[in-house]
Amino acid sequence: MADLRTRYMGIELKSPIIAGASNLSTDTHKLRQMEEAGVAAIIYKSLFEEQVQLENLELFERKTEYEHRNAEQVTLFPNSQTVPESPDDYLLNLRKAKEAISIPLIASLNAVTDEVWVEYAAKAAATGVAGLELNFYSLPDETGNDRETIEKRQVETLRKVKAAVKIPVAVKLTPYYTNTIRFISELDKAGADAVVIFNRLLQPDIDIFTELHTMPYNLSSSEDNKLPLRFTGMLHGTVKASVCTSTGVYTANDVIKMILAGADAVQVVSTLYRNGVDVVRSMTEEVGKWMDGHGYKDLNSFRGKLSMKKSENKLPYTRAQYIDVMMNSGDIMKKYRSLS
Ligand SMILES: Cc1cc2nc3c(=O)[nH]c(=O)nc-3n(C[C@H](O)[C@H](O)[C@H](O)COP(=O)(O)O)c2cc1C
Repeated sequence: MADLRTRYMGIELKSPIIAGASNLSTDTHKLRQMEEAGVAAIIYKSLFEEQVQLENLELFERKTEYEHRNAEQVTLFPNSQTVPESPDDYLLNLRKAKEAISIPLIASLNAVTDEVWVEYAAKAAATGVAGLELNFYSLPDETGNDRETIEKRQVETLRKVKAAVKIPVAVKLTPYYTNTIRFISELDKAGADAVVIFNRLLQPDIDIFTELHTMPYNLSSSEDNKLPLRFTGMLHGTVKASVCTSTGVYTANDVIKMILAGADAVQVVSTLYRNGVDVVRSMTEEVGKWMDGHGYKDLNSFRGKLSMKKSENKLPYTRAQYIDVMMNSGDIMKKYRSLS
């Protein structure tokens, strides 16, 4: 029987398949279902700085007046029909979730100010979770900070959080950095125990009939995993931090590809929503069967085999491959001849 165990951010996992942060984690029944299906660890839904801000405002207004609270809630949570969970309730629910399962639970934070990052990292760690995931999120904005300032601040936030907690700390990133690999190397030097590549941001759309903005909740597809696949391959063997591949990991084949590229673990979310949490059972079985068929007794036997460092063919990671495909795109696109 193939051995699927892996070490992720210093934590021993029975397999490389982790449930990424989503609303599924806030439902105890779903948490247990995920554990039964063979998920190796679960990232709990993020606590957002806006929840903390709203709570602070409420405390302030209890001492003064109540007038602006509604307006502020509309600004912070424009589409929310209900009052968002308070940070104290979040921490309580995080603790309950941790107690409901025996696989590692990892807390996730999405803050803005260092005070909130550090305070809630410490509070989340005190619930007994196995690790923390920092969900870095910064929107481009002409009047905002430049690249260097944003990146320095994020590295500094990581350092402060690392100094405040004893549990391992992962950083979940978007792909939108000027030089993502170099930035990850800065995070690595600052002590990140893992990098999660990548988060999938929601993008607003426009409804041309109502002429209004919409915020569609589009789940990913397997096609979306090419970018994380490439970055995983480029990172393998270059950083001390574990590499966790996220976005578009749907099937056992996707998991195998990510390990071949060099992933220590993968996170799945959309496939859980689309195919049900039981999909993890068959994914795990199929990865094991593939390993048996290829004579791999454990993940390390093939991890990173097709990474930039270890692969004999470096072409997929180079500019030359891009140029080659672009120069030959006429031939490649012949399969779409019905369009011409
Ligand atoms: C319903 C839903 C809720 C999510 N909530 C969070 C969250 O709280 N924190 C976070 O870092 N990512 C959150 N995500 C993003 C996922 O963790 C993941 O990064 C993204 O969906 C890409 O992975 P996938 O292709 O497997 O879905 C959420 C995704 C979905 C679909």
